[in-house]
Amino acid sequence: MQQYVVGNWKMNGSRVETARLASSLVRKLSEAERPLPRIIVCPPFPYLGLVHDLLHNTTLKIAAQSCSQHLEGAFTGEVSARQVSDMGASYVILGHSERRTHYGETNSIVQSKVSAALKGKLQPIICIGETAGERESGRAVASIITQLQESLPRNIKAEQFIVAYEPVWAIGTGITPRIEEIQHIHGVIRQELSKLVSPGGIVPILYGGSVTALNAREILQTPNVNGVLVGNASLKLEDFWQIIQSSEE
Ligand code: PGA
Repeated sequence: MQQYVVGNWKMNGSRVETARLASSLVRKLSEAERPLPRIIVCPPFPYLGLVHDLLHNTTLKIAAQSCSQHLEGAFTGEVSARQVSDMGASYVILGHSERRTHYGETNSIVQSKVSAALKGKLQPIICIGETAGERESGRAVASIITQLQESLPRNIKAEQFIVAYEPVWAIGTGITPRIEEIQHIHGVIRQELSKLVSPGGIVPILYGGSVTALNAREILQTPNVNGVLVGNASLKLEDFWQIIQSSEE
């Protein structure tokens, strides 16, 4: 399976900085000497169209960082999946831990958003991951399984979505799980998906949380890791490029 490298730019950057980052990435891409993974960048909402124009005619894809669970209507401040797709995005991150923590997104809201994304022709990247407390009390696996069970709409097909395992305690902290832990949890997710999703394609499972140019290669070589979701390091062109170069062919 082709690996994925996803850059989540979060709420960072001005119009000029975002354009510079996107254009530099396009330049790097044109100089690449080896097959590349599927690269997806996730700009803030206002810059989706700008980045789409800059990435035109390249293999780079765009994701939004969230979307509404509603299809349209009187929801001031919200952005619908169809609008995101209309601005050139093909994917949307849903259920990121920052959305769950700061904006009260529950599994049931995430599930509605996944359904809305599919209706809007977006492929959701569904984030799950345990908190530090859950990990310390030995409830990491139980928490991940519940999130998966409750965030996936019934009848979703394997080829319609991506899962990102992001331990909450690893995001933005510079701390990552041991490779054996990542391998174990990804194995658990793979097994649970085989119960929840009808047989067919394979759901890509990404790892996210303090991925850097230094640890990306080892993470990307781990069984059942089909890519990485990168926050901080995706804002630095050279680091992000090195992560891209660390993918398996
Ligand atoms: P980080 O963020 O790479 O800065 O830890 C990852 C994420 O939030 O997706």
